[in-house]
Amino acid sequence: MHRRAFVRLVGGGVVAAAAAPLAGCDSGLPPEALAPWQGPGQEPDLRRWILGHAILAPHSHNLQSWLVDLRTPDEILLRCDPTRLLPETDPFSRQIMMSHGTFIELLDLAARERGQRAEITLFPEGEFGPEKVDERPVARIRLVEDSNVSRDPLFAQILKRHTNRNVYDLERPVPAAAWQAMADAVQPHPLRLGFVGTDQPDSADEIRAHREIANAAWRIELTTPRAMLESYKVLRVGQAEIAQHRDGLSLTDPMVVWMARLGLFDRSQAPGPDDFATTSQIKDFGTKIASTPGFLWLVSRGNDRVTQVNAGRAYARVQLAGTAQGVAMHPLQQALQEYPEQARPYAAIRQLLEAPAPAQTIQMWARVGFAPPVQPAPRRGVAAHLVAS
Ligand SMILES: Cc1cc2nc3c(=O)[nH]c(=O)nc-3n(C[C@H](O)[C@H](O)[C@H](O)COP(=O)(O)O)c2cc1C
Repeated sequence: MHRRAFVRLVGGGVVAAAAAPLAGCDSGLPPEALAPWQGPGQEPDLRRWILGHAILAPHSHNLQSWLVDLRTPDEILLRCDPTRLLPETDPFSRQIMMSHGTFIELLDLAARERGQRAEITLFPEGEFGPEKVDERPVARIRLVEDSNVSRDPLFAQILKRHTNRNVYDLERPVPAAAWQAMADAVQPHPLRLGFVGTDQPDSADEIRAHREIANAAWRIELTTPRAMLESYKVLRVGQAEIAQHRDGLSLTDPMVVWMARLGLFDRSQAPGPDDFATTSQIKDFGTKIASTPGFLWLVSRGNDRVTQVNAGRAYARVQLAGTAQGVAMHPLQQALQEYPEQARPYAAIRQLLEAPAPAQTIQMWARVGFAPPVQPAPRRGVAAHLVAS
């Protein structure tokens, strides 16, 4: 496989060496990128302790677009970093808002753990319009000590939760109790959770349809140059780049690292549809999808900014509940993305999940199953998120 990539390169073709998928390579990450996964430990400052959990939230492309202002005592003001958006694949920043919801949910769980009521006001200076995020805060969170506040068992899963992009065990369906735990976890937020598993009666056609849409959408993403270039921009190849950025999509495949070092992995050009970097990733993804024994989805009524944040909160809870059950999860956002090339899979998934536009929006779609564990993804640490005081 490597040899083929190399030959193509020497033959003058586009650099196409990404033998591993863009994300999910799970070996050899530098310790400074993983340190935040130790948790905040004995951090004496309550807000920083809480934030030490919130920054472990899932975020699309691992961009960690959370800007935090602690200048008002007992308050956490959250804004979105406008330099950490995905304008090509997430043109209306829906996933970015979800990724603020995941942060807020983990923040809330951590606050409860410390007997604090997090009074969360979303968009305290007004909600963003449907197209663009702006500099106004996403949330103002006041911490109030409250002996009546209840702890949430999902808190215990924060340090264990990871997106798992491995091949899953097709022979091991997700048990009914695990689906139930994930469905229960959504409860505090107004979204509908649906799921399908290979062990459910008459599910074969439905599962086949999920697989087809996921593969088609992935192929479109990989063959849409501007979508690929957006991923390349946040691709961190090798230990030095990963340690420097501690965000984005990590690649540690030795072959690719070696080529990047030699200046042979040109990230300013998207690979062509027939290049090995494209075809190998399509094949690899297809294997993962074919191994998947279950899919879940979260559907909202409407799609305003508060709804998107709540969708992220719900997803965080679902993934934490899955983690508690030993269940692996891998979001499949490609078909849900609002750029024109994805129109067909977007329509197909809406039809399959009976989520008619514009009344309903599929906020999350994920593959679910059992898989070997993965290493955590890099995090920048609390200090990197604080705006200067
Ligand atoms: C709104 C949202 C959308 C995401 N979409 C995808 C996706 O389409 N494919 C994928 O592999 N991961 C997706 N992820 C997972 C992120 O890439 C992941 O959270 C990030 O890389 C950090 O890794 P961690 O979840 O293991 O901490 C998504 C996460 C969120 C919150």
